[in-house]
Amino acid sequence: MKITKICCIGAGYVGGPTMAVIAQKCPEIQVTVVDLNEERIAAWNDTDTANIPIYEPGLDVIVAEARGRNLFFSTNVDKAIDEAQIIFISVNTPTKTYGKGKGMAADLKYIELCARQIARVAKDNKIVVEKSTLPVRTAEAIKSILDNTGNGVQFQILSNPEFLAEGTAVTDLLHPDRILIGGDPSEEGKKAIQALVDVYSNWVPAAKILTTNVWSSELSKLTANAFLAQRISSINAMSELCEKTGADVNEVAKAIGMDSRIGSKFLKASVGFGGSCFQKDILNLVYIAKSYGLNAVADYWEQVIIMNDHQKRRFSNSIVQTLYNTVSDKKITFLGWAFKKDTNDTRESAAIYVADDLINEHAKIAVYDPKVSNKKILGDLNYLETRNAEANANSVRSFLDPYEACQQAHAIAILTEWDEFIHYDWQKIYDSMQKPAFIFDGRNLLNGPELKAIGFVYQAIGS
Ligand code: NAD
Ligand code: UGA
Repeated sequence: MKITKICCIGAGYVGGPTMAVIAQKCPEIQVTVVDLNEERIAAWNDTDTANIPIYEPGLDVIVAEARGRNLFFSTNVDKAIDEAQIIFISVNTPTKTYGKGKGMAADLKYIELCARQIARVAKDNKIVVEKSTLPVRTAEAIKSILDNTGNGVQFQILSNPEFLAEGTAVTDLLHPDRILIGGDPSEEGKKAIQALVDVYSNWVPAAKILTTNVWSSELSKLTANAFLAQRISSINAMSELCEKTGADVNEVAKAIGMDSRIGSKFLKASVGFGGSCFQKDILNLVYIAKSYGLNAVADYWEQVIIMNDHQKRRFSNSIVQTLYNTVSDKKITFLGWAFKKDTNDTRESAAIYVADDLINEHAKIAVYDPKVSNKKILGDLNYLETRNAEANANSVRSFLDPYEACQQAHAIAILTEWDEFIHYDWQKIYDSMQKPAFIFDGRNLLNGPELKAIGFVYQAIGS
């Protein structure tokens, strides 16, 4: 089957960049990205691509090239579904906040709504692709909805999880480690798999396109995120031991990373991992394991989250303890609020939890992040519902200038590893701060010996 029209439901961090790259690499395919969120779609259509809703290095250039040629952003979901041969579902799958599985299971209501809408609209055969991260066996539920509520047309369900990381989304999409496509082993299923393989083959080498059964594909995505997060919790666990024993976690990470069986990536100790997916996906995995009665499996993976929560709390506790056991009315400046560098995404960022702890201790938080607005920072804190919005607004202030943010601060906490922090005039910052001037480097980003030479009291993670 020659694919000429693709639709993607969900114009978020995955749908937007993924479809932009498909459109760029497949100029003969018309790609329409749809979303219910009118504001988001309007931003994707902004004539100035600097204003697209997601900040990812290089993405604006790709959007500028493809948009209006064969890449379209729209709120007309029905029309895009009707016209497309392949429909990607790339909507959010957050942790449930109510009912059975609250706080653990994935909330599949948006997925189900998409399936029902596709069933209602589709008048010819469609390939429906799970791009969102889903619990293993979700394809079964989608198929049941499509087959039982549809117009008698045939649907093939494929699982094609996305492995991009934010901040490097464009590079990850252009040069993926692998593309994973899971499908039904029937003849029709094989044809659907081949149709999607052909799309990716426009730029991804055949050896990197892996096809499996649907369940393996769905579970591989949860497994990949669990393994990645586990590495961070493992090195973070070691960071605490390093602090007690005089070992240096950076040296330990380097030493073990040179073992080719372990590998050097994803061994950076930190204030704790954030992002919209690691915690959500592991909780989902834990829930699935428990639902099959596999309690030992569930407990094993849950420990990754427990360790991460511990690491975030340990960081805020250490700030309070070091500042003579009180931060009440002290100005603590956060450099960075995003969950990692090169993104404007703040979902589950460690900064939110560290700030929340410190506000409980009556600290005054100043924030500078090159890509995150004050509105978003307050929104993140309000979402926790620890205190009312007014109390949060009285405790947190954000700045457009990092030097101003640091003025008269008792301490600076590095929460995101933005490159620009390395190159600041640290002498100037030191001169403007209260003394002793403390730096808590939650990313092991800065040059400790240099800062100590200036006069800072410098604390890193794991040394
Ligand atoms: P997101 O919240 O940024 O985007 C989801 C979009 O879907 C929103 O704009 C929302 O308005 C839209 N939407 C929801 N229901 C809709 C409906 N019925 N019709 C039309 N639009 C609808 O989420 P995201 O970060 O892009 O993540 C999407 C999925 O991809 C999740 O399952 C996530 O786990 C997975 N994933 C995310 C990343 C990442 O880096 N963010 C990476 C890999 C996989
Ligand atoms: C992660 C995975 O890396 C992607 O493969 C996956 O597609 C995605 O989740 C997803 O499913 O959403 P992402 O969360 O965007 O991507 O970013 P990562 O680079 O994985 O970083 C996650 C968090 O871990 C960040 O807070 C980062 O600072 C932290 N981290 C990462 C560390 O603390 N140490 C490390 O060594 C690496």
